[in-house]
Amino acid sequence: MLVEAAILWVFVLSTDPGPQRRQGKEDTHNVKTENPGDFLAALEEDAQERARRRKKNEGLANALKEKGNHAFSKGDYGTAVQRYTEGLEKRKDMPELYTNRAQCNEKCMKAYFHMGKAHLALKHYSESRQCYQKLLELDPQKESLYKGCLNEVDLQERAAKEEGKALEEFQSGKLTAVSVKELLQKLDRANQNALYYAGGIRLLTEAIRERTEQTLFRTNNGFSIINDNKVIRRGFCAERKNTAEVDLSISLLVLWQAVCTGNEENQRMLLTHPDVNVQLPKLLSSEVPEIQKETLALLFLYSQTENGRCLLLRHQDLTRWLQVLMAFIKVPDTRAICAMNLLADLMKEEKFRIQCRIKLSTGTLPLFVQLLKTVRLVNRAALAHGIAVMGDLCSDGVLRVQMAESQECWQACLQLMDVCCCDGSAAEYQECLFAVLGLMMNLSLESNMVIQGSAVDVGRKCLSLLSSKDGKIVTRATGVLSRVLSTCPSAVDEAVKGGVVKKMLKFLKACGQITCSYAIKTLAVCTKSSNQAREEVMKSDKNFSVLLQLLASENELIVGNAAFCLSQCLNVPGAAASLLNSNIVLVLLKLAGGDARKTAVQENAAVALGKLCTAEPRHILQLRELNGMAVLSSSVKHVQGL
Ligand SMILES: *[C@@H]1O[C@H](CO)[C@@H](O)[C@H](O)[C@H]1NC(C)=O
Ligand SMILES: *[C@@H]1O[C@H](CO)[C@@H](O)[C@H](O)[C@H]1NC(C)=O
Repeated sequence: MLVEAAILWVFVLSTDPGPQRRQGKEDTHNVKTENPGDFLAALEEDAQERARRRKKNEGLANALKEKGNHAFSKGDYGTAVQRYTEGLEKRKDMPELYTNRAQCNEKCMKAYFHMGKAHLALKHYSESRQCYQKLLELDPQKESLYKGCLNEVDLQERAAKEEGKALEEFQSGKLTAVSVKELLQKLDRANQNALYYAGGIRLLTEAIRERTEQTLFRTNNGFSIINDNKVIRRGFCAERKNTAEVDLSISLLVLWQAVCTGNEENQRMLLTHPDVNVQLPKLLSSEVPEIQKETLALLFLYSQTENGRCLLLRHQDLTRWLQVLMAFIKVPDTRAICAMNLLADLMKEEKFRIQCRIKLSTGTLPLFVQLLKTVRLVNRAALAHGIAVMGDLCSDGVLRVQMAESQECWQACLQLMDVCCCDGSAAEYQECLFAVLGLMMNLSLESNMVIQGSAVDVGRKCLSLLSSKDGKIVTRATGVLSRVLSTCPSAVDEAVKGGVVKKMLKFLKACGQITCSYAIKTLAVCTKSSNQAREEVMKSDKNFSVLLQLLASENELIVGNAAFCLSQCLNVPGAAASLLNSNIVLVLLKLAGGDARKTAVQENAAVALGKLCTAEPRHILQLRELNGMAVLSSSVKHVQGL
């Protein structure tokens, strides 16, 4: 009996999670007694009690399972889930409760899904919404699917409301409402010439003032004016046209804008129209600037909202769009900026960025490189935008790797920097320069042979920008330096010869936190590989006052790099002694002992402390006074590694 009880006891303690386990622990306090005989008796009694309770729970769980099965057989999956769950609260170790519950969860979800759809078809919006909300609770992994469904319910409800209101206004004789219908009837007349239709469409566009008219356009089959009429249809084609047809085409594009502005249902109707769907990308590449302009404006309506972007992603193949839109940088008018705005919007969608991968190296990148190289000839305001878009694209790791490995891309960036510095003072050149520095910063998050090979050039050009009057440019140039120099010691040597140390120390005294964080990183990279850099820091930063100040920064990246830099400089003879009258030991000890949250920062501080005491034993006295020997000895292993 006792043996069996002991096993049960173990079982309860070790495998049964939840409330029972907690009881088990409390029970161990109850059996706490000095006499081993009493102890065993108490143990046995406890085990019996436990067995009784277990038996009772088993009965309850079985009953709940039966109830669950009954509900399941009647198709009442919600109740069934509830009963199985209650059963599991009684007994956690009844596998059939889990499987039954899983089964009806699945049935349940299917049922709710179909019910949601059915309610939506019947225009029972709130019931439909409840179904999807329930699914969100039951199956949170498919959140985006159900949120999409809920969004669809909202859209359809809104459209239905608008239709009701539009009908009312029409019946009450609102002038523009009536004319929408009349004009649509007139446009329905077959076999007129292109000018007739273009004129009618312009009048119609003027009549469309608000939601009501947009809605009436839809409910009166406005979208079918293309498919039912050969002349209009041809006008909408992207092929070569006569003047009247061009005019018709433009009037249609303007009409679509009037009809679709802020109207999601109309946007959907238009984009799912088979002709429109096929023609839109072709119109975007039309030879007629005005057609391109209106197509861009129409697409921009979509790109501005999440719903619109989803429609574009769902119904258009966007793999070439980055390239197609980027090509507008060559044109001198508003099309270029409009195309860039469109791109910047699309870039918000991860799905779009992923599609951009497909044509990057074969299409987009060669075009981009060419644009960078011809900066004098293109629309520079748009180019600055376009470069920023490419910089943003670096958030996609795959794209970043591809761009960073392109020698042509780095060369073109450098070339652009040259031109901007020569022709430089015009604002648009400065914008391009600023953008390209941002792109280079993001590209140099990678590290590869191409970057290593360009590092000397990049370093030299960035160094020359450090005297720019524009603080934003200085910050980014420093950012590029901090990343690119770390790939290549000879680039460091060159930069040190060019005076980078003095510049960085100057920024560290005077600049804001972002510039400071890049500057100290640059200094850390330089002192890591260049003895000359260390000596210069020592010479220019009297008694390391700048570095000591940085050790008190709130930004741990700055603190960590400052500690690193300091420990590199301690290799210079006399450096450690120059710190004898400072509180450096205390500062480093605190950081190493846990004031710094990041381990890397703690380690850097410990290494600096170790080097300090090794180079100048008088620091050890102070360390002893501060009871810091333990920290030092734990840091010795780091120091030995150096
Ligand atoms: C750099 O990339 C990040 C995303 O990784 C992006 O948010 C940022 O805008 C990019 N910077 C520039 C200047 O392009
Ligand atoms: C540097 O430290 C020495 C003592 O170590 C001190 O005499 C000197 O005034 C300090 N110099 C500066 C610029 O703080």
